[in-house]
Amino acid sequence: MTTTRLPELSPETVASAARRVMARCDELARVTADDGAITRVHLSPEHARVNRLAAEWMREAGMTPRQDAAGNQLGLLPADDPDAPVLMLGSHLDTVIDAGRFDGILGVLMAIEVVRLLRRVDDEGRSRSPFPFGLEVAAFSDEEGTRFGKALLGSSAMAGTWDDAWWDLADADGTTLREAYREFGLDPGRIGEAARRPEQLVGYLEAHIEQGPELDRRGEALAVVSSIASARRFQLLVEGEARHAGGTPYDMRRDALLGASEAALAVERICRGEHHIIGTVGQLEAFPGAVNVVPGEARFSLDLRGEFDADRDRVWRAISLELDDIMGRRGLRWRAREVHSAPAVFCAPLLQDVVREGIRHSVGAAAEPATLFSPAGHDGMALGAVAPVGMLFLRNPDGISHHPDESVSAPDVALGIRALAEAVAHVGAEPR
Ligand code: GLV
Ligand code: MN
Ligand code: MN
Repeated sequence: MTTTRLPELSPETVASAARRVMARCDELARVTADDGAITRVHLSPEHARVNRLAAEWMREAGMTPRQDAAGNQLGLLPADDPDAPVLMLGSHLDTVIDAGRFDGILGVLMAIEVVRLLRRVDDEGRSRSPFPFGLEVAAFSDEEGTRFGKALLGSSAMAGTWDDAWWDLADADGTTLREAYREFGLDPGRIGEAARRPEQLVGYLEAHIEQGPELDRRGEALAVVSSIASARRFQLLVEGEARHAGGTPYDMRRDALLGASEAALAVERICRGEHHIIGTVGQLEAFPGAVNVVPGEARFSLDLRGEFDADRDRVWRAISLELDDIMGRRGLRWRAREVHSAPAVFCAPLLQDVVREGIRHSVGAAAEPATLFSPAGHDGMALGAVAPVGMLFLRNPDGISHHPDESVSAPDVALGIRALAEAVAHVGAEPR
């Protein structure tokens, strides 16, 4: 690894950047659809508001902001050569329902600070990248998939892997993705304009809270990510027969909710026996949904992740066989609709190395920085199709995430900003 050209960053400069990040996480947390909770979904009025705030902060840090054809908010710090490729830094600004304030948001705000710290002002007073490539911050418009079930919509558009079948996905109110685009002021016909080509991207680097307890348990602030789990999501339907709750004896019942409940337990049992495979049933609804009616229909979701695609797919086949058995015994029918699928993404060796160097420089650790696999999904899963991907994890006390108690400390954010800036500088020092 070659030496870096990072300007010396004083502890006070970095600490003040971290304080700004923390204050802005609080400010974005106030942009929500739910009073008293943080909920901000794709193509909502809240999405438009956070994009405007991010654009303002990007401009103030020396970048030229613009919103792309997929609602991603971008900020560009160009290289001297306007045709030079860019190193993309960022994460997402959308949230789950009743979210924490750091998942995704932290990575966007840290990226803005890193650009502010690294930018060079030229003789004409213009902010420029100090590297032979531009720096671009991306605040992705949909990583979570909260509204339409399909995750990574923003980054998939950028990766050029958009699937036109997604236009017909509908939210809980029946609004399709196509309609939501128009309501947001975007033109579905121009989605292709969001796509980047591999030669336009030096790579994609993202900082994110760990969303698990490993760093907290080890007493370490930062980790290099080795790979991001592959994921599949399904919506499952179980059909039985709705009948009187009092008058129907047990041997005549075809209770769809009990079939779905047994299925959820089977998912846990099967996945627990596997290394690095996790299955979650996060939604379960019974119909018609009356206290005195045996449920005739049940719907539930399944989120399945694995370190390797083949293991994840083998486990899905095992779950399917088990569901055949459960539903067969109970006189029920079932079917599944796949709503999301993303392959595992392995972080590029060079970007793992630069992040590791960044951590060493920042934390000053004599010991080797931790390297973690990410069971949580990230925008890099989509961008891996067009760019080498690297990630930096920050300690997330108790590992709680997708919950209002999600946290990260300002001193860890300062360490993370220094590590990310150093990692970018290492990319800049690589022979090209
Ligand atoms: C996103 O946070 C996911 O991992 O589902
Ligand atoms: Mn996230
Ligand atoms: Mn998330």
